[in-house]
Amino acid sequence: SERTLILVKPDGVQRKLIGTIVSRIENKGLNIIALKMLNVTAELSKQHYAEHVEKPFYPDLESFITSAPVVAMIVEGPEAVSVMRMLIGATNGREAAPGTIRGDYGSSRQMNMIHGSDSVDSAKREIGIYFTDNEICSYGVALGDWVCAADEL
Ligand code: GTP
Ligand code: MG
Repeated sequence: SERTLILVKPDGVQRKLIGTIVSRIENKGLNIIALKMLNVTAELSKQHYAEHVEKPFYPDLESFITSAPVVAMIVEGPEAVSVMRMLIGATNGREAAPGTIRGDYGSSRQMNMIHGSDSVDSAKREIGIYFTDNEICSYGVALGDWVCAADEL
């Protein structure tokens, strides 16, 4: 089982898509094991998006991600990192496949509603940036036995 860091970005919160996005994750059978709302500061943005800080679009990305609250979550499950990337879809909402979150709700490359870690290593790093250990509630769900066989976990 893996963990991944998910954000409902400021546009997702403003557009009242928190519930929709949480439902997509729950419907897929993944477990949300931490969740909070926060304002991303410029400093936090630079930490999170360290790989993009030198890119030409970074100033726009920082003003966007700090413009309104986000919802941060840790999502856990078998192959959670790649499963969430599949649910999320391509970066640009205009290119994201229908059926993905960005494909169904987005039309922008920047305002694409949701972030998901792009690898297990990124997930570990990003979870450490957004959450402390005592904010994480790992728990079993009884229905889990009907979502995924034991040898897949
Ligand atoms: P995240 O899950 O948010 O990391 O998206 P991603 O992995 O699909 O894309 P990437 O890491 O390449 O870019 C991070 C975020 O920066 C994107 O989700 C967009 O919000 C924004 N972004 C990416 N490319 C551009 C761009 O060319 N212009 C602008 N303005 N924003 C961009
Ligand atoms: Mg990324």
